[in-house]
Amino acid sequence: MTRVAIIGAGPCGLSQLRAFRSAADKGMEIPEIVCFERQSDWGGLWNYTWRTGTDEHGEPAHSSMYRYLWSNGPKECLEFGDYSFEEHFGKPIPSFPPREPLRDYIVGRADKSNIRDWVRFNHAVRDVQFNNETGQFTLRATNLVDNEDTDELFDYVVVATGHFSVPNIPQIEGIDTFPGRVIHGHDFRDAVEFAGQQVLVVGASYSAEDIALQSLKYGAKTVTCTYRTGAMGFKWPEGIEELPLVDRFEGNTAYFSNGDTREIDSVILCTGYLHHFPFLPENLRLATHNRLYPGTLYKGVVWIDNPKVIYLGMQDQYYTFSMFDAQAWYAREIILGHIKLPSASEMTVDAKSWQDREEALEDPIQDIDFQTDYCKDLCRELDYDLDWDITAENFKHWEHHKEENIVTYRDKAHRSPVTGTTAPLHHADWWSEMDDTAKSFLG
Ligand SMILES: Cc1cc2nc3c(=O)[nH]c(=O)nc-3n(C[C@H](O)[C@H](O)[C@H](O)COP(=O)(O)OP(=O)(O)OC[C@H]3O[C@@H](n4cnc5c(N)ncnc54)[C@H](O)[C@@H]3O)c2cc1C
Ligand SMILES: NC(=O)c1ccc[n+]([C@@H]2O[C@H](COP(=O)([O-])OP(=O)(O)OC[C@H]3O[C@@H](n4cnc5c(N)ncnc54)[C@H](OP(=O)(O)O)[C@@H]3O)[C@@H](O)[C@H]2O)c1
Repeated sequence: MTRVAIIGAGPCGLSQLRAFRSAADKGMEIPEIVCFERQSDWGGLWNYTWRTGTDEHGEPAHSSMYRYLWSNGPKECLEFGDYSFEEHFGKPIPSFPPREPLRDYIVGRADKSNIRDWVRFNHAVRDVQFNNETGQFTLRATNLVDNEDTDELFDYVVVATGHFSVPNIPQIEGIDTFPGRVIHGHDFRDAVEFAGQQVLVVGASYSAEDIALQSLKYGAKTVTCTYRTGAMGFKWPEGIEELPLVDRFEGNTAYFSNGDTREIDSVILCTGYLHHFPFLPENLRLATHNRLYPGTLYKGVVWIDNPKVIYLGMQDQYYTFSMFDAQAWYAREIILGHIKLPSASEMTVDAKSWQDREEALEDPIQDIDFQTDYCKDLCRELDYDLDWDITAENFKHWEHHKEENIVTYRDKAHRSPVTGTTAPLHHADWWSEMDDTAKSFLG
């Protein structure tokens, strides 16, 4: 019997498990599935942990999420095509949930799918080798509870280990003698720690934007964001400013490339993450920066040099859970033999054409159209239904709301692409809402 290894039971791994369950429910014969998950529960990054550095087994602490984290995109833009928020919560809920209810939704679908038995929790994958003669993989995993290694044979490997967990940490002159605290966003847990401080946030993307806002919301005195390529350019509330790149530190003083200086108490590096797959040999290992179309993957998922290796969710993400579903359904169809792959050279040409288009994109609206087209392209051959046009429209409204006012975009309501319902408004505006519990949010 064909055996499939899925590495990781975060949202991508769960999409893959659900895709196989859905095929089985329709009477299709499915392969044997084993999902290896290093954590003791599923949910990936959505499992908040107070730990930083290492976990209870000495493994890297996976989650980069923090207290009071709210969805930064409308939930209607990530809704599963086959499981609406309304079905999960039994009623319509506002468009921007905090982490806890959002995690509940993700794992809620998994809980109802009878797939838990396919997952080996507390199992870290250490090594994957492909044997050209047998056409099979030998996968080595450590059972972290018993401290035992086992080798097993598989026909396909699905890599669903995420790419927002291993921090990219640049060197800045003088930072080694900076007297205050220096952390990466991966280790940021509670904005309250920075109350009363003058904070420097390095980076100009989603983490920088949200951590700057969080820090001010929970009492930082000032937040200076420093950018390498371009400013975020939002109309920031009083207390947040943007300056070009910090060149060096002398004591607490930060020197910027435009000649400005600021006194700084703490530095938060929001400088992104590395695609990191230490368990894969070089010839199977994806090497890319965070982009919309990693080039060595056909349809954004198939490792062209060995199509029995499939990567999920490796893109820069506007879309998340619904895109992961589309990718997982596509991967399932390859594994079941329902989709026949073209030759390696045809796959390379196809991937290159997407990448060429990506490289010509000029603004977030074009980015959104690009990723929408990508999802639609995947779904052309799939039994996965979602109105991607409603989702794209929501993303564009969201983008405009952010430009209008970065503090209030989470107070808006969006329309579900699954049920058509427009979300109710939350009982408090995001800036004044300090309570992020599911109990408070759901009422
Ligand atoms: C701070 C932050 C906030 C975010 N907020 C949002 C948001 O508001 N909305 C949104 O849609 N998206 C958000 N995201 C994007 C996020 O990437 C996705 O929501 C989603 O978690 C990606 O799922 P994944 O399965 O690809 O990866 P992950 O969630 O990272 O899951 C990967 C899983 O693989 C496991 N794993 C890793 N290595 C191994 C190994 N060697 N062996 C076994 N298991 C392994 C990990 O333990 C983990 O469970 C956020 C990301 C970050 C960093
Ligand atoms: N729910 C939420 O509120 C929330 C909060 C945080 C994060 N997230 C999610 O987390 C994911 C990751 O976002 P991210 O912002 O961490 O990563 P990212 O989008 O990959 O952005 C990385 C940033 O780091 C900058 N950078 C990299 N190296 C640098 C250097 N040496 N000096 C200065 N700047 C440098 C990049 O600048 P260049 O532009 O110059 O390359 C870029 O601005 C996203 O999916 C996001 O949606 C969500």
